[in-house]
Amino acid sequence: MVITKSVLKENYLLENSIHLIKIYSPEIAKNCCPGQFCNIKVSCSDYPLLRRPFSICDTDGNNISFIFNIYGEGTKLLSQKKIGEEIDIIGPLGNGFNLKGDYNTAIIVAGGLGAAPFPFLIKSLPKDKKVISFIGGRTAKDVITYGMNNIIISTDDGSLGFKGNVIQLLEENINLLLSEKVKVFSCGPNAMLRALKEFCIKYDIVCEVSTECAMACGFGICQGCPIEAADKDGYYLVCKDGPVFDIRKVVI
Ligand SMILES: Cc1cc2nc3c(=O)[nH]c(=O)nc-3n(C[C@H](O)[C@H](O)[C@H](O)COP(=O)(O)OP(=O)(O)OC[C@H]3O[C@@H](n4cnc5c(N)ncnc54)[C@H](O)[C@@H]3O)c2cc1C
Ligand code: FES
Repeated sequence: MVITKSVLKENYLLENSIHLIKIYSPEIAKNCCPGQFCNIKVSCSDYPLLRRPFSICDTDGNNISFIFNIYGEGTKLLSQKKIGEEIDIIGPLGNGFNLKGDYNTAIIVAGGLGAAPFPFLIKSLPKDKKVISFIGGRTAKDVITYGMNNIIISTDDGSLGFKGNVIQLLEENINLLLSEKVKVFSCGPNAMLRALKEFCIKYDIVCEVSTECAMACGFGICQGCPIEAADKDGYYLVCKDGPVFDIRKVVI
């Protein structure tokens, strides 16, 4: 983990309202793995006080990129950064996905901005693994396909692809899933992850999820990011023990 002042190289609208920023940061880019995140200071002043965590979306070995939507103050400030500006980043943080394992096909299940960690993950998979990406959004505007492979889409309102949520889409494709040795990699809203957990238990499918919660330090000091453990008494820390967990090990 390093604390760096890194230079913003690119900042543009990727698709719909999704912003992409690319930051020159070789120290982080050379040492990160898919599913890890960075804690970004979004302004030069003390407001907002807390950094914002963002999944590493992609890297080319020197630069790292992140995608985000404008929700509140942090993402608004980040979207206004100018090329050449210095950005204070801590990273890489957290554990990342385990790409090893006894599977032939990686099943990506992403809801909305939960798509963020997967361009890097897909690029990093061993060459003998196939990928199928199940991407869900509320409407066509919320579907993010950047960096994805072999895409099957669902929208809640039916404006693009299958009409329904992404877990219903998995059910529709259950024969395909059960005909392969699969491992699911997922990130998205908690309601989606809860339904995914039931789905994976029902069909005995291995699954790792990247979880989200509000954070402060980002590296295990403040105890501010607990997630209830399902396999022991107590809690895990999302920033240090996660953000990626075996879906069976946490209460979502
Ligand atoms: C490990 C980790 C990885 C993350 N990766 C990404 C990423 O790759 N891209 C990304 O955009 N965000 C990601 N987030 C969330 C991100 O850190 C911010 O919380 C989010 O972008 C909003 O920040 P903000 O300062 O704009 O909003 P805030 O000012 O903190 O919040 C403004 C309002 O928006 C709501 N809000 C905050 N976050 C969300 C959300 N995700 N969905 C819906 N409503 C929300 C809040 O409840 C609040 O009402 C990640 C979080 C974690 C813990
Ligand atoms: S954010 Fe401080 S311990 Fe996790």
